[in-house]
Amino acid sequence: LFNNMNSTINEEDSPMGMNSNGISVTTLTTPDSKRNTKTFDIQTQVKNINLGHGKQVEAWTFSGTSPGPEIRVKQGDRVVVHLKNDLPVALTIHWHGLDVPAAMDGVAGITQNAVKPGETYTYTFNADQVGTYWYHSHQMSAEQTERGLFGAIVIEPNTPIVQYEKDYTVAIHEWKSGVESSFDDRDHNRNDEEQSDINNEKYDNEDDREIDWNTPQSNMLVGALMKPTDDQLEELSDGDEYDVFTLNQTSEGLHLDAKPGERVRLRLINTSNNTHIMTLLGVPFQIIALDGRDIKGGSQLNQAILPIGAAQRYDLVFEMPKVGSVKLVNANPSTRMNSMLSATVGDGVSPKVPVNLKSYPWFDFTKYGQKGVGKFTIDSKFTQSLDMDLAEGKYGQQEWVYTINGKSGADIPPIQVKTGDTVKIRFRNKGVEIHPMHLHGHTFQVISKNGKAMEGSPIYTDTVNIFPGEEYEIALEANNSGLWMVHCHDLVHAEMGMHTMMNYE
Ligand code: C2O
Ligand code: CU
Repeated sequence: LFNNMNSTINEEDSPMGMNSNGISVTTLTTPDSKRNTKTFDIQTQVKNINLGHGKQVEAWTFSGTSPGPEIRVKQGDRVVVHLKNDLPVALTIHWHGLDVPAAMDGVAGITQNAVKPGETYTYTFNADQVGTYWYHSHQMSAEQTERGLFGAIVIEPNTPIVQYEKDYTVAIHEWKSGVESSFDDRDHNRNDEEQSDINNEKYDNEDDREIDWNTPQSNMLVGALMKPTDDQLEELSDGDEYDVFTLNQTSEGLHLDAKPGERVRLRLINTSNNTHIMTLLGVPFQIIALDGRDIKGGSQLNQAILPIGAAQRYDLVFEMPKVGSVKLVNANPSTRMNSMLSATVGDGVSPKVPVNLKSYPWFDFTKYGQKGVGKFTIDSKFTQSLDMDLAEGKYGQQEWVYTINGKSGADIPPIQVKTGDTVKIRFRNKGVEIHPMHLHGHTFQVISKNGKAMEGSPIYTDTVNIFPGEEYEIALEANNSGLWMVHCHDLVHAEMGMHTMMNYE
């Protein structure tokens, strides 16, 4: 593929920390004069930031904060981002989930050279996809994203479908600070004895009741919930690798303003490498978008835990109660994550955090929203159908790598497509870890889970979070020619081999 192309790409640059071949950068088309141009200046810099609980990190930031500046534009705008790199390392910006032209995709070594210290680079694309997206570096991305190089990009619709008074983005992140903490684990990680005492107490809070899975629920909402298996719970991060967990740069409880009766939209973005199970307490809520794309007809949920995979976004809407505040919490009770990843919306008394959160049902996107088939169905015919089996283990001389169809990294053959192809990919997780699979430059439709067709709204997305033993089929139209990465968004897995390409002939 790369042989007869004129390479101007620096082969030292590498999207996943490995060397790869490159192509020449294509030139931009003239900006459409009918669009409003919104210009953003972003300057990367090293910055010591306070994460709370006495933890500090020397972060790599976009313009001094992490998340970096929020890029918020209107549908149809032309977005121009001037990047000035004042870090000691080279980097790029990738627009996660936006189907931008390949030349703007920001993958070092594939679509551009990484931007060296002191250099500048300009990204330009049309904001045609409404919703919640995010940007992050795609040069040595495991390290660079983890150290703080990410931010939100929100594209507002010209005609809003959902009404709300407050609109917040909340980035969930994990850090290695290497700094002693003033945070006392014992306050938050109860020992087993304390835990069972608490479990034996009778809870007065009605919302704290257990779901009875044996009784058929007339409540249609339960259709969108599922009982997590022990394996799924096992697979959640225990937080051992990281010592600080933040919502928008604080581990001490984010506060968001809202008045009683106001409608609030939260845009949750998981910028970390692990799945986080989040929930909202004190109010029923509605999930209105996944990975930025609207869901049709989603009803109210209560007591639902949202398993947000790495790189995924969940947009929720709720109405502030007349009294009291609303709490966003992490439902992983075994670690300090539980208390660090929390936010309060409003000023009233906070709802009590139930101790049995771990047994709450999980949100199942395959059953949520209106019935509808979408562009593709499980019976559609495709020009190309392929399997990607995901696993981990020994490969060649290496003791532990991540594999697709038994091969790792540059040995994985790229997917070859032609413009106009319809492509189905079946991802099967044959391994023991969670693999959030992401495809660049294309919105894909999830058409089945574990062999069963989707029951709810057609779900269009850019990342599908696959637990061990699970299988998903996704479908897309090859309508954005270029060279596109397909990789696990546990960026450590990607760096250790779980990445390939989709290339157009
Ligand atoms: Cu969010 Cu290849 O990236
Ligand atoms: Cu993975």
